[in-house]
Amino acid sequence: MSTDKDQTDYHLGNTDAEHERLIRQAVRLAPVTERFFREAGIGSGQQVLDLGAGVGDVAMLVARIVGPSGKVVAIERDARTINRARARAAEAGLNNIDFVSADIAEYFTDSMFDAAVGRYILQFVPDPVAALRSVAKQIRPGGVVAFQEGSWIPFVSLSAHLPLWYACISLLHESGVRSGVNLEMGPGLHKAFQDAELPAPRMRLEMELASDPDFTRWVSDSLRSVLPQIQKLNLSVEALGDFDTLQERLQHEVRTSNTVVPWIGLVAAWCRKPAS
Ligand SMILES: C[S@@+](CC[C@H](N)C(=O)[O-])C[C@H]1O[C@@H](n2cnc3c(N)ncnc32)[C@H](O)[C@@H]1O
Repeated sequence: MSTDKDQTDYHLGNTDAEHERLIRQAVRLAPVTERFFREAGIGSGQQVLDLGAGVGDVAMLVARIVGPSGKVVAIERDARTINRARARAAEAGLNNIDFVSADIAEYFTDSMFDAAVGRYILQFVPDPVAALRSVAKQIRPGGVVAFQEGSWIPFVSLSAHLPLWYACISLLHESGVRSGVNLEMGPGLHKAFQDAELPAPRMRLEMELASDPDFTRWVSDSLRSVLPQIQKLNLSVEALGDFDTLQERLQHEVRTSNTVVPWIGLVAAWCRKPAS
């Protein structure tokens, strides 16, 4: 199945800069995501479905966990993005990933999987319960469903002590909410799993606190990716000053305050599909 839907309705777009942002973000999140998947029960030899593959980082992480006897089917609807994912997987020598160009709302296969995973995807889809229900049908009894989604409430609260940082986070938050992104999809996974007739998931919230440039870069890069949406929504960027010097000024603010700033809360939720 193939859809060539463009990304005009996707909040973060599909520019090369957005792809690089995703890759840097994935490096930072990889240890947390890998630990989560292993705890959830993903292991050697499994067949795993990855929803919303982006440029392939979750699929590649899972491909290494399942090894050459396992397989990952990774779903991504954007053509540019999936091409980048395929090229990166080939470059990494990972032959056990099948990247499928499709909207997750439309994807269905007769194959049964041992697990379904996703990171930062259900928050973008109009009907996450329908997506989980469809996934549940494609998992064998006893199989794993494991998703990581964001929670902005603690992120915004822990950002209030630094004026420029807070102005940036507030703008990102407002543009996300007004574009229809569910920024509390993480905590919402408790209800979403059950509405999809899956068991109530086990859940954990993880949030890194630090002062290194990865954090300020993530904020300035994310603002650049969502700038077209910010402009479409007529939101003011005046309080942020020149975008070209934004990261530098954010980093100066964090460093001179001798405090830490948060990463978006990452909520992990996982369960096993009941045997009957
Ligand atoms: C924030 S990225 C996350 C990528 C990856 N999971 C990661 O954590 O690095 C979300 C990706 O989901 C894709 N996406 C959004 N809605 C989708 C849909 N309905 N079907 C398939 N892909 C979708 C976007 O194109 C984007 O590449």
